[in-house]
Amino acid sequence: MSAIHTWACFLLWISFATQDKTPDVTVTCFVSEECVLPCNFQPGSKATIEWFRQNVVVYKFERKDDNSNSSSSSKEHFKHEQLTGRASISPVQISNGNATMILRRSGLKDRGTYRCHVLTSEGEHDAKVILKVEAPIRGLFLEQSRMSGYEEMKCTVRNVFPAPRVTWATEPPTFEDLRPVTRMLADKKGLYTVDSRLKRLKGQPDLIYICKVTTSYGGPAWTASLREREIRGTQGKDLTIPCSAPTYLNNPSLQWTFSNGEDFSRILTYDSRSGRSVSMPPWDNHMELDNFRVPFGDGALRLMDPKHLEHTGSYTCEFSVPYSSHTERNEVTIHDPEGEQRASEDASYWWVIGLVAAVLVLALAGMLAYLKLRGRTSKPRNDPEEVTELNLVKDAAAGQ
Ligand SMILES: *[C@@H]1O[C@H](CO)[C@@H](O)[C@H](O)[C@H]1NC(C)=O
Repeated sequence: MSAIHTWACFLLWISFATQDKTPDVTVTCFVSEECVLPCNFQPGSKATIEWFRQNVVVYKFERKDDNSNSSSSSKEHFKHEQLTGRASISPVQISNGNATMILRRSGLKDRGTYRCHVLTSEGEHDAKVILKVEAPIRGLFLEQSRMSGYEEMKCTVRNVFPAPRVTWATEPPTFEDLRPVTRMLADKKGLYTVDSRLKRLKGQPDLIYICKVTTSYGGPAWTASLREREIRGTQGKDLTIPCSAPTYLNNPSLQWTFSNGEDFSRILTYDSRSGRSVSMPPWDNHMELDNFRVPFGDGALRLMDPKHLEHTGSYTCEFSVPYSSHTERNEVTIHDPEGEQRASEDASYWWVIGLVAAVLVLALAGMLAYLKLRGRTSKPRNDPEEVTELNLVKDAAAGQ
């Protein structure tokens, strides 16, 4: 009996709750950008508009007279410190029945339930707006490090709200347990910075590690993966720098860049939609990309007639689709055999000079030692004083 009673009450409540009410609107906007909280009503002469947030008036607007072309008087009231100067309703729009509130420079503190209450000569209107403020993922930063003896992948994502979730995968998939260590920190504004570290699996050097980040508000999942290698080439001999797209990236665009520690330059970009690549000077006459192979995931760059000084450095290729990228960093050393020969010739030359100098020094030292030794043995004979003294002693002895 009481169960039926409860049910009846519940159904009654539902029918009341849904009666004559505009459905709640959910608005999502980005941190520090503008939020638009909609409120539309049947226009009439006079209007008092109040915006509530969690049942506290945060913005009030009164329009006494709807004679918009002449003697209309309107008053604005701000009642909430947090919204002061950031919230506005367009007075012109009010006569059209539009009490939409614009909130500028939004922050996470602005999240919540808002209600717009409009009182006109014709009646009342209420509308509820649920405001979500979000700081979306703008990018992932993935790097490889050799801290504390382990090879590690580190994935970082900054200034995100709500809290992001980081997961790892490999390509090809592995059955081994990946055990990342993930740290999450929130700053004063409530934005999260997350870094996740994963030890590379031993004995599987060709595995690609994929860092995947999502947020609970939905939205796209971001992924990043990275591979690093070292390549040695010879001056004057064409060299192929490999770069292959993992299968999970579908029809990606490609970009090659170069850095030698001081300068950074773009080598080329390949656009997946047009199937064309554009190369930048001075690289355009030193390299080649097979445009027809890129859609099949082969973005290898052929370096022609490379020079030791000009072309030694880091070559990075990045395959990308929206929200996902795969990067391969190639540390390329171009040897200069002639230069090395010259260097070794130089080295032998210096070796000879060194030897000669050493011999000279030894000879000099030997000569000095000899002179010193000779000087000591011949000293008594050469010293006239000692001789006279000796003679004196002799004389004295003879005289006694
Ligand atoms: C209501 O006014 C706002 C500006 O205050 C405007 O952006 C919006 O498009 C208007 N809505 C309608 C339905 O006219």
